[in-house]
Amino acid sequence: PADAHRDPEGRLVLGGVDVVSLAAQHGTPLYVISEADFRARARAFRRAFAEAFAPEAEVDVFYAGKAFLSTHVARWAAEEGLCVDTASGGELALALAGGVEPSRIGLHGNNKSDAEIGRALEAGIGRIIADSLDELERIEQLAAAAGVAAPVMLRLTPGVHASTHEYIATAHEDQKFGLSLTPASIEDAGRTTGGNPFAGSPAWTAVERALAAEHIELRGLHCHIGSQIFEPEGFEVAAAKLIGLLGQVREVHGTELPELDLGGGHGIAYTEADAPRQPQEIAQALAGAVRSASAKAGIAIPRISIEPGRALVGPAGVTLYRVGVQKDVQVDGPAGETLSRRYVAVDGGMSDNARGVLYDADYSAVLAGRQVTGEHVLSRIVGKHCESGDIVVRDVYLPTTTARDDLIAVPATGAYCHSLSSNYNCLTRPAVVAVKDGASQVLIRRETEEQMLGRDTGYLPGG
Ligand code: LLP
Repeated sequence: PADAHRDPEGRLVLGGVDVVSLAAQHGTPLYVISEADFRARARAFRRAFAEAFAPEAEVDVFYAGKAFLSTHVARWAAEEGLCVDTASGGELALALAGGVEPSRIGLHGNNKSDAEIGRALEAGIGRIIADSLDELERIEQLAAAAGVAAPVMLRLTPGVHASTHEYIATAHEDQKFGLSLTPASIEDAGRTTGGNPFAGSPAWTAVERALAAEHIELRGLHCHIGSQIFEPEGFEVAAAKLIGLLGQVREVHGTELPELDLGGGHGIAYTEADAPRQPQEIAQALAGAVRSASAKAGIAIPRISIEPGRALVGPAGVTLYRVGVQKDVQVDGPAGETLSRRYVAVDGGMSDNARGVLYDADYSAVLAGRQVTGEHVLSRIVGKHCESGDIVVRDVYLPTTTARDDLIAVPATGAYCHSLSSNYNCLTRPAVVAVKDGASQVLIRRETEEQMLGRDTGYLPGG
C-alpha cells in the first residue's frame, strides 16, 4: 500500500500499525488491507474516468467484488461513490448487507440460478448482466411473475482477449461467457443482409428479444476482455465494436441504448517488473476511442461504466506470514554456474494464495518485523502444503539472518487471495484485518478448526 513504511526499529508499518503488533494481536497468516489505500484508488479511478469523459458522458465505477468482498469493503466503495459489481447470490448478499444502495449494484454470472435472479429482482438492483439467450428468457419470465421490469445489460464477446501487454482480436469465440457478435452458424451468417454485420449473431438476437420483451428494460451493452491488462488498446478495440452495435441498433430500431460497460481488468504491479499505466492514461485513451466510435456510429456518447476489482484492492493488501523451516540447496544458475537457493517455509501457502499455482503468478516479499541488514540470499518462499508447486514467491533476496518466527510480508495480495482461499490440507482460512490511522479492525474472522471440521457430520468438537 502507498501508506506503508518502516518505523525506526525497522518494522513495517501498514496504515499506522506495525506488523509485529498486527501479528501478535491477530495471528498469522494474516491478510491486512489498508483502508486509506483502497479508498484512494477508488477515488483515483472515479476521478480519472469522470474527467476523461466529461462533459459528454458520466461514468459509473463498479467495484468488482469478486476480487475481495466484505460488508466493510462494500461500504467503503459506496462511500467513495462507487457502485458494486457482484457475481453470485452470495456476493449480492454481502453487498446488500454492507448497505450498498440496491440501485447501485450489478449482478454478473454465466450461469445464474433462478433463485439468484429472483433475489436480484426482489432487492431491486440496478442491473442484471445477462450472459445468454437462455438467461434473458428466464429474467423476462421471473420479472413478469414479479410484475417488474428488469434492468438488463447484455454481456457480449467482442472477440478481444487481453492480458498484460497483449491483446488478441479473434473472430471466433471459444469460451463460456457472453453473446457473440458473429453469427453462430453458416446458415445464420447467410442472413447477414441489409448491411447489418451483426444480423444472425447471438448478440443481435438478444438485443432484439430484449427490446421486444415487456418486462425487460434494456439498459445497454457490456464486455469484459480479460484481466491484469496494462495497455489500453484492447479496451479501445472492444469499445469501438460495441459502439458499432449500438449504432446498428439505432439504425434498425431507432433506439439509442443509454449505457456501455467496458468491464474490469486494469493491471497492477505484483513485482518490480510490472509497470501498469495510471488510471488517467487508460481513461483518456478509452475516452478518445469512445468519442470517435460514437461519432462514426452516429450516436450520442453512452453513459460509461467500468468494473475494476484488482486495481482497487490488490495493492491495498499485504499478507503476513511467519517463517518456519528453512533449507539451503545448490541449483544450476542460468549461465551454468552454481547458485545457492534458500527455501523459506511459511505458515500458509496455496490455501491463502492460490494464484501461484493457478496462474504462475509471481510476488515479491520483504522481511517485515525487524531491520533488514547484512547479506542477502536468493530465497524461495514456500507454503506448508503437501505440493511442490506450493510457492508463494519464486525468487526474492532475503537476509541470510532470516530465522524461525521472523515475519514476512507479501505485498499486492489484496485481490483474489482471500476470495480464492481454501481449506486444502484442512488449514483454517486466515483473518482479514483493515488498518487505518494506527488502528486495526477485523473485517473477516479467522476460521476456527471447529468451524472447519464441524462440517463433517462425524466430527466431535473437542474430540
Ligand atoms: N468484470 C467482470 C465481468 C469480470 O469477469 C471480472 C473478473 C472483473 C470485472 C474484474 O476484473 P479485475 O479488474 O479484477 O481484473 N482470479 C483471477 C482473476 C479472475 C478475473 C475474473 N473476472 C486472478 O487471480 O488473477
